[in-house]
Amino acid sequence: MKKLSTTYLLISLGFLLFSCEKKEAPRVIQRGLIAEKAMVVSAREEASKIGLEIIQKGGNAFDAMMATEMALAVSYPFAGNLGGGGFMVYRLADGSTGSLDYREKAPLAASKDMYLDENGEFLNQLSTKGALASGVPGTVAGVFEAQAKFGKLSPAEILQPVIDLAKNGFVVTPNQATRLERVRQVVVEVNGEETFFNQEIKSGDTLKIPVLAATLERIAKNGRDEFYKGETAKILAKHMLAKGGIITEEDLANYQAVWRDPIVFPYRGFKIISMAPPSSGGITLAQILKMIEPFDLKSFGHHSPEYIQVLVEAERRAYADRNYFLGDPDFVNIPVDQLLDSEYLKSRMENFSIEKATKSEDIAEGKIQFSESMETTHYSIVDAEGNAISVTTTLNGGYGSKLFIDELGFFMNNEMDDFSAKPGTPNMFGLIGAEANSIAPGKRMLSSMTPTIVEKDGKLWMVVGTPGGSTIITSVLQTILNVAEFDMGMQEAVNAPRFHHQWLPDLVNFEPDSFDSTIISTLKSRGYLINEGNSPVIGKVDAILVLPDGKLEGGADRRGDDKAVGF
Ligand code: GLY
Repeated sequence: MKKLSTTYLLISLGFLLFSCEKKEAPRVIQRGLIAEKAMVVSAREEASKIGLEIIQKGGNAFDAMMATEMALAVSYPFAGNLGGGGFMVYRLADGSTGSLDYREKAPLAASKDMYLDENGEFLNQLSTKGALASGVPGTVAGVFEAQAKFGKLSPAEILQPVIDLAKNGFVVTPNQATRLERVRQVVVEVNGEETFFNQEIKSGDTLKIPVLAATLERIAKNGRDEFYKGETAKILAKHMLAKGGIITEEDLANYQAVWRDPIVFPYRGFKIISMAPPSSGGITLAQILKMIEPFDLKSFGHHSPEYIQVLVEAERRAYADRNYFLGDPDFVNIPVDQLLDSEYLKSRMENFSIEKATKSEDIAEGKIQFSESMETTHYSIVDAEGNAISVTTTLNGGYGSKLFIDELGFFMNNEMDDFSAKPGTPNMFGLIGAEANSIAPGKRMLSSMTPTIVEKDGKLWMVVGTPGGSTIITSVLQTILNVAEFDMGMQEAVNAPRFHHQWLPDLVNFEPDSFDSTIISTLKSRGYLINEGNSPVIGKVDAILVLPDGKLEGGADRRGDDKAVGF
């Protein structure tokens, strides 16, 4: 009898375990594009394809960088650029890492109070629209610097398909047609009736930009100095002056991209390599990840109120530090070691309680007006040799300052708005800055761009980044956590809805209609001020994940026209 009941018990237990197992069917990961060797993910199919074509011709990731970045300048004038700047983080196949800063600089004639009126009031129109809003562009210097140091092909060979793209045209997407129509009136206001983009451009049209093709042809022939010291520089400086700007030939001639040590830090067995100042991306990402590391996020559950709270509270504290301490390291001393010190970060989270939201010290009035103007673009590349690059590049707002150089075929940035023009006053991202990020001649404005590479077990694991102004850092953070903590695939992690908090204003922003209403109510009951639906999208992440079998999975953001291609 005893034997029988033990057997019965064992059978019942087995059945119970079996039925439990049956209930928890393994989650099906929605994978993106899978490639064997190489991949490019960017905001436009044409740019991804041209980058990959360069790798197929025997080029590496740095050759593909020049091709992809310049192809974005042609086919994605919203954020792709010759008139802007960016940051690139790399990891070579041998494991060595580094980063390149080709951020714009304030012109030599810039001054601390240049956007204030006689009463000291911030004239934000001047830092966002028209010639005075532009910093000295760094993009051409950046792509040439990276390609000269690590690339294998000649710039002329790399740029030929880009020149062909500008000459033969690209097909306008529905998103592009809508954005171009929306911005047309402002473009005319800044440039006059005769400007190139004052034309009806419909979805499906083929748009050719012959004058940009001619500029690119001169750059292919004469190299980076064509842009900074040649005919292009002369035309650009003359145009800026005529439009009331202050960028001179001297500013252009002085511009240099700078190699910088990236911010490198561990997170739960991963090694994260991200951008150092003048981008705030790496330090702020490191602070947030180090503050959340002691919490068992997985046990909270993805997008549970507790998970959201831990991230928001760490973001609150990290953005407060960002806005006070960070600026151009060539001009200000940044206490990097202290900001990343484990004890310091632990102490920052000591007053966090799951019961109730911590309040940001000052609740700013009004809301951040997120709109599609918070633009920038990101691309990720892994080449056939195993080199990886993560690049974020920008004009700042969509179509930058809206100043289009009709003789050259490109928009100029409005990056001067990323400075803290008046301490305590929010910029277009609602970011409140301090003295560390005040305007000075030749200084680089603080950025949030966070091109990032992650290693696992000493091997390349993820290449990731996004546009989105101040939401860049938190979008990169959530994408990494989606895979690292919640075992999502790359495309799935990119698709997942996002939320954002940045200390001030004291609001948590959620992508609309993407989060359960009970989660939002719980957060409200714990004292969080919620802003749902103010931003159509948060970030447009383009990323690559190396799978356990060595294949590459692309994550191209569904929120844009983004595309992964590979072989
Ligand atoms: N212009 C956006 C950024 O650099 O953060």
